[in-house]
Amino acid sequence: MLNPKHILITGASSGIGAALTMLYAAHGVRLSLHGRDRERLTHIAARAVQKGATVLTMMSDVTEQDILAAWIRKCDDIEPIDLIIANAGISAGTGRNGESEDQSRAIFATNLKGVLNTIHPVMPLMIRRRHGQIAMMSSLASFRGFPGAPAYCASKAAVRVYGEALRSELRAYNVEVNVICPGFIKTPMTDVNHFPMPFKMPAEQAARIIQKGLTANRARIAFPWQMYALVRFMAALPQSWLDKFMSRLPKKGG
Ligand SMILES: NC(=O)c1ccc[n+]([C@@H]2O[C@H](COP(=O)([O-])OP(=O)(O)OC[C@H]3O[C@@H](n4cnc5c(N)ncnc54)[C@H](OP(=O)(O)O)[C@@H]3O)[C@@H](O)[C@H]2O)c1
Repeated sequence: MLNPKHILITGASSGIGAALTMLYAAHGVRLSLHGRDRERLTHIAARAVQKGATVLTMMSDVTEQDILAAWIRKCDDIEPIDLIIANAGISAGTGRNGESEDQSRAIFATNLKGVLNTIHPVMPLMIRRRHGQIAMMSSLASFRGFPGAPAYCASKAAVRVYGEALRSELRAYNVEVNVICPGFIKTPMTDVNHFPMPFKMPAEQAARIIQKGLTANRARIAFPWQMYALVRFMAALPQSWLDKFMSRLPKKGG
C-alpha cells in the first residue's frame, strides 16, 4: 500500500519494530505502537512525535487476547487502520532460558498466538471496508528446522504458511497480506547469539527493505538474498543428508 495513514505496529519498543516506527513516522501519519517495556516504548513514541506523527501507545502482552483486541478496536475507531504489522516475537535467546519446555510454549504463545491475536480483531473491519494491509513477521528460520530453535522455527513456519494462505483468501476483499522473512538482523534478539551470523544487517536497513516490500505488496519479503538462497537450498535437501551437519550447528544464545 502506498502511503498508509494509520499504522499499528506490535513490538515497536525495540529492534525491527522500533526501526519501522521511525521509518513510517511523518506528518499526517498516525502510529499506534504496542510493546511491554514502558520506558523504551515511550522513548520511541517521543521520537516519532518529533518527526510529526500522531502517536498512541499501549503496554500489554500480545498473548492477552481480550486486552489486545479491545485496544486494536479502539485504535481503529479513532481512525481506520490501513496497515497492521504483527511483529512482536521472542526467541530462545531473548527468553534467556534456551528452548526449555516452558520457553517453547512461550515462543509459540508469543510468535503464533500473539500474531493471531493481533491480526484477527482488525481483519473483519478491513474486509468490510474492502481496504487494508496485514503484515506478519516470520523469518528465514521458517524454511527449515534448525537445532537449538525448534519452537522458534516452527512458530515462524506456521506464521508464514498461515499468511500465505490468508493472502489468497483476502485478495477478493482487496486486503493485502504480506509475510516478512528476515535473516539475521542486529537487534537485542541477535545480540545474545554467540556464533557467526552471516550477512547480518542493521535494523534500519531491514526496515527500509520491509517498507519497500510492503509498498509493492510483495507476498514474501525475504532478505538478504544470499541467506534466502542458502535456506531454500538447505530446505530442498533430504533431512538425512544434513543430519550430521545440522547437529553440529551452534544453538541460539540462552
Ligand atoms: N533479529 C533478527 O535477526 C530477526 C530475524 C527474523 C525475524 N525476526 C523477528 O522480528 C521480530 C522482531 O524481532 P527483533 O529482532 O526486533 O527483536 P527485539 O529487539 O527483541 O524486539 C522484540 C519486540 O517484541 C516485543 N515482544 C516480545 N514479546 C512480547 C509479548 N509477549 N507481548 C508484547 N510484546 C512482546 C518486545 O517488546 P518489549 O521489549 O517491550 O518487551 C519488542 O518490542 C520478531 O518476531 C522476531 O522473531 C527477527
